[in-house]
Amino acid sequence: MPNCLIDPSDTALPVEAIHEEAYDSWLAAQSAGLQSWLSSTGFKGKGGQTAVLPGAEGAAAGAVYIIGGNEERGGLWAWSGLWDGLTAGEYHIVSELSAEDAYDAAMGFALAAYRFDRYHKADADNQDAAFLVWPEGCDQNAVRGAYGATVLVRDLINTPASDLGPAELAAAAKELADASGAAYHEVVGVDLIREDFPAVYAVGRGAEDSRAPRLVEFTWGREEAPSVTLVGKGVTFDTGGLDIKPASAMKLMKKDMGGAAHALGLASMVMASKLDVRLRVVIAAVENSVSGGAMRPQDVIGTRKGLSVEIGNTDAEGRVILADALALASEDHPDLILDFATLTGAARVALGAEIPALFCNDDALAEDIFQASQRTADPLWRLPLHGPYNKQTKSKIADLRNDTDSSYGGAIMAALFLENFVGEGISWAHVDLMGWNLAAQPGKPEGGEAMSMRAMFDALANRFGS
Ligand code: BES
Ligand code: MN
Ligand code: ZN
Repeated sequence: MPNCLIDPSDTALPVEAIHEEAYDSWLAAQSAGLQSWLSSTGFKGKGGQTAVLPGAEGAAAGAVYIIGGNEERGGLWAWSGLWDGLTAGEYHIVSELSAEDAYDAAMGFALAAYRFDRYHKADADNQDAAFLVWPEGCDQNAVRGAYGATVLVRDLINTPASDLGPAELAAAAKELADASGAAYHEVVGVDLIREDFPAVYAVGRGAEDSRAPRLVEFTWGREEAPSVTLVGKGVTFDTGGLDIKPASAMKLMKKDMGGAAHALGLASMVMASKLDVRLRVVIAAVENSVSGGAMRPQDVIGTRKGLSVEIGNTDAEGRVILADALALASEDHPDLILDFATLTGAARVALGAEIPALFCNDDALAEDIFQASQRTADPLWRLPLHGPYNKQTKSKIADLRNDTDSSYGGAIMAALFLENFVGEGISWAHVDLMGWNLAAQPGKPEGGEAMSMRAMFDALANRFGS
């Protein structure tokens, strides 16, 4: 893994990788025959384009790739067009690459080659298979870690709720934990009440018989190392509950466990790289469903922290389950809590589908994360935890409510709600993300996507790495 990256091979064809600005001088140095071939194919030498070059007797002799394209995303995404442009065969990049470019080339290529083929092998079988020799100077372990984590996130999100309920999400967490020797613990169904996770239980109750809710947890690493806890929203399907979503809004809701997938993906990167941290992962896994047992609007529920919550809208379920997860995460007072959630449509209204919203109670941490996101071409953008808005999340009959009267600033309202459950003095960052590519772009097939995960790993490695 990844299969499309291979060891050096005698039969691999050379690929020259050049920047758009260098194309004209590169072209001028080619034979008249090649120049007229390129112009006859309409090749323009624009970023992201690949030209397969003709050899003797009609076979390909190699290719030229113009680094870039992909709407100026930069970094690894500037290399994703290569996979799209190549025909079946083995290739190796002959241009000299910095270590950073070598990493980007391998990652960009591998992420472009991803397909979700669990249910439909036909596409993959018929597809031209292009393989790239690991670029020279590439940190292969770093690529394997980030690629494996991204595939884990994409696969988990793409898997429909029919095959990925709370039990299967928990099983995926357990598989990851077991593979790394992490200590795994799971609380299921009515045990959530006994072990004091009433908010997780309240949301999961509507699907309890068929798809029991659960709280999943694992810990890994040296006990004395700096402690980092990752928290994920694992709503394996969000119907909206009794405040049911209209069909158009429900359509993508198999992805509502995307936050949990991100927590697992990031954990896999941390463990694969053996970062010296005490890692803890906490996932609340539920299906937000409709039944006679489902929580109702105006219900008041308890939480692990002891704060009571009036349910204004059963569709604002993510913040409710995260309340208990964040309270648990805070109990051993870690140095850092990062939570990931497909929490609000409002975050998408504010920033669009591609840019997760970052909320953070620690300016230095927010700046570190932002710098890391720039370095990794993995964008996110900070929104404020604006204290004065807190009054909108107060209930008349309980400590808090899970919705607000106004629909303005919905992503901030959700983040402020969560802040109530984060322990005093703990550095905390919350990411409200889409987790889904609405349309295919180079390196980004339509469907589940990791967003902000590589940035967060970079920020952690920068802080805690040797
Ligand atoms: N899972 C949704 C949020 C969501 C919707 C994320 C669309 C990405 C795309 C969440 O559980 C939800 O339904 N939030 C509501 C909250 C509202 C009822 C206060 C929302 O955003 O509309
Ligand atoms: Mn919802
Ligand atoms: Zn949801």
